[in-house]
Amino acid sequence: MSRILIRGGTVVSATGSQPLDVLIDGETIVAVLQPGATALGDVAASAQIIEATGKYVIPGGVDAHTHMQLPFGGTEASDTFETGTRAAAWGGTTTIVDFAVQKPGETVQDTLALWHDKAAGRCAVDYGFHQIVGDVNPESLKGMAELVAEGVTSFKLFMAYPGVFYSDDGRILRAMQRSAELGALLMMHAENGIAIDVLVEQSLQRGDTAPYFHGTSRPWQLEEEATHRAIMLAQVTGAPLYVVHVSAKQALEQIATARGNGQNVFGETCPQYLYLSLEEQLGAPGFEGAKWVCSTPLRSRAEGHQDELWRYIRTGDVTSVATDHCPFCMKDQKELGRGDFSKIPNGIGGVEHRMDLMFQGVKDGRISLERWVDVCCTTPARMFGMYPRKGVIAPGADADIVLYDPNGHTSIGVGKTHHMNMDHSAYEGFEVDGHVDTVLSRGRVIVDDGAYLGRAGHGRFVKRELSQNLI
Ligand code: URP
Ligand code: ZN
Ligand code: ZN
Repeated sequence: MSRILIRGGTVVSATGSQPLDVLIDGETIVAVLQPGATALGDVAASAQIIEATGKYVIPGGVDAHTHMQLPFGGTEASDTFETGTRAAAWGGTTTIVDFAVQKPGETVQDTLALWHDKAAGRCAVDYGFHQIVGDVNPESLKGMAELVAEGVTSFKLFMAYPGVFYSDDGRILRAMQRSAELGALLMMHAENGIAIDVLVEQSLQRGDTAPYFHGTSRPWQLEEEATHRAIMLAQVTGAPLYVVHVSAKQALEQIATARGNGQNVFGETCPQYLYLSLEEQLGAPGFEGAKWVCSTPLRSRAEGHQDELWRYIRTGDVTSVATDHCPFCMKDQKELGRGDFSKIPNGIGGVEHRMDLMFQGVKDGRISLERWVDVCCTTPARMFGMYPRKGVIAPGADADIVLYDPNGHTSIGVGKTHHMNMDHSAYEGFEVDGHVDTVLSRGRVIVDDGAYLGRAGHGRFVKRELSQNLI
């Protein structure tokens, strides 16, 4: 197996940054050394050298929330496991955790097997699965134990989308009881879907059918209420709770309070909620706003959600930043909702841009360099039972490493840095003061200096442990 020495860079971890060299043997990091350490002798002499002077050397990104080829809204998310993980690699993400989906009438075991089939042999980077439990019944509750044994240790439920993925409070309670028994993490889409459906119907009846009204019919109060309810149900059952794609500052306040009380409650947000807004994007002229229809929705900038979300990243109450990558093209997909926003497939693509967009937060003084690595790499790895194999540069870890140029530049947009299978970019025109230069996945250079060197099938399934992040 080949040896690689990454030399002259600054290794950034969740706790600090220092000039260090990194030695890789085969797929694994074998040593992290003082710069120029002579003790290496023959080992270094035989290694391929990667020069990292002036670069940050960081763990490969871990995006714990993606939906490759998700069947949704009468269509399917436009990135396959092949195209989506290749785009992830381009953007410095070397592990994704995607969602297998159980719908009513199906078993969790069968649907997980189906998702394994979709991904196996096609991924550019490593991948794991969460399981969506869309039909909480005695069989699925029993099946959850099997999935945990197979390395699928987190389960997502929905308080939104009645008739599709929705679970009522009784079902949620039962699934949480089971999660608590198993020590598995319960992930929650926290929006009051029953109330939202009434508001959607009333909006359409009034003739308010444009994409903007997707946002106004999902007010923050219904995210806050559902988040509070989920926290209370988790408290009753003792289940650890991870609230996905939080966009309302009030929902984060609920999470912060629960965390302050010592509860195992965690918040995830996504770059779209930090950078984009109800007014500017969902409110774009004509049908343009459809590009940004996702749930939870983008929130009002006038109400200050975006700034507060950044603050909650600093306080630690947002524990991880994922993308909720769920791309749909405008043509033939988002267009399904022309004249009726409720028929626009929900989702935004961004798996390629998370590391860059969050680095811009460092440049803008919103978060520290170390917090960038923490929320994008280390904590997601710990949260979802992949640490210390993923999310850290340390001996024994997989050699998933990104060389990031803090003086580089990235222009985002279709025809620029865009490799996702989408006919538009949610971040078209964004300019980032940094650049993903080189990406290694398990010791292989898969992106280097603007060239893709990876291959479909290099990525392997990651059998995850229980969460390592519980209080
Ligand atoms: O709009 C979104 N978030 N689409 C993906 C499905 C989900 O709820 O995460
Ligand atoms: Zn969701
Ligand atoms: Zn999602």
